[in-house]
Amino acid sequence: MQERIVILGALGQLGSLIKNIAPANIELHAFDVSEFDISNLAQHQSLYQELAPTTIINTAGYTQVDKAESEQEDAFAVNAEGPANIAKACSESCRIIHISTDFIFDGEKQAPYMPSDLASPLSVYGASKLAGEEKLQTIRPDSSIIRTAWLYSAQGKNFMNMMLNLMAELEELAIVNDQIGTPTSAHTLAEVVWRFVANRELKGIYHWTDQGAASWYDFAVEIKQQALAIGLLEKDISLRAISTQEYPTPAQRPKYSVLDKSDTYKAIQFQGKSWQEELNTVLRERLPIE
Ligand SMILES: NC(=O)c1ccc[n+]([C@@H]2O[C@H](COP(=O)([O-])OP(=O)(O)OC[C@H]3O[C@@H](n4cnc5c(N)ncnc54)[C@H](OP(=O)(O)O)[C@@H]3O)[C@@H](O)[C@H]2O)c1
Repeated sequence: MQERIVILGALGQLGSLIKNIAPANIELHAFDVSEFDISNLAQHQSLYQELAPTTIINTAGYTQVDKAESEQEDAFAVNAEGPANIAKACSESCRIIHISTDFIFDGEKQAPYMPSDLASPLSVYGASKLAGEEKLQTIRPDSSIIRTAWLYSAQGKNFMNMMLNLMAELEELAIVNDQIGTPTSAHTLAEVVWRFVANRELKGIYHWTDQGAASWYDFAVEIKQQALAIGLLEKDISLRAISTQEYPTPAQRPKYSVLDKSDTYKAIQFQGKSWQEELNTVLRERLPIE
């Protein structure tokens, strides 16, 4: 079958990487927010009528976690109605692959979260993403939902790039040490998404992150050490571990949101690498080309 694929959110961190590594033998149509608004049902209906896609990959999202606390309606329009609109408008034979988040969990569990564990979001962002999952599963239970966490890439707005900029400027940085998750390369997740595209049997909820676990402080320490070692950072900086209480934010985040990926490993025959190894690959992408 000739795949005709639509990517939504194509200028976002993950969407742009998925687009960049698309296999040559597919027909690809990628749309960013300026061309296509996922909260608008009529736009979905006319696009899918025109293109008759075989697969829709939805990476579009309202991703500003703190801002969502005061923009609940906007967050739900994009993160809940967006995926629902895809499911309502596309044909029954069209595959839907949707990206969700670890922030649907409350972080009270002491062991990695299974896809079947109870979701209980602490934030508006988490609640809006959970509503998106639920609507998708109600209308199209055969959708593939990939939950991920702590995404970063060589380009784009993310923790790694923010740390590199701050570390170059400041003498000291304080970083939260009591939220545990898994830093995840968006580059590798993009490869994982194409593995999902290749296997139409993968339906339901799956988890994907890089391997291991870390606090934001651990992540910052590793960024600093690796960036110094490869010459991306020129001076050392003092990093101080602080608690969430010392760094209050509008949105509450889970204290622990490591995801269990064993089902995904079996399904796609791929396990990725430790988050530290993945970080090294992504940091090297930031080095100037010789
Ligand atoms: N980043 C993370 O740490 C993380 C963790 C777990 C899960 N996820 C999920 O992974 C997915 C991809 O995340 P990402 O890091 O690539 O986020 P991103 O860089 O913010 O990309 C999302 C894209 O969606 C666009 N968008 C916003 N509203 C839209 C609308 N109404 N219609 C169409 N497009 C719209 C955004 O445009 P603007 O930039 O102009 O708003 C942006 O280009 C999202 O579903 C996110 O919830 C992300």
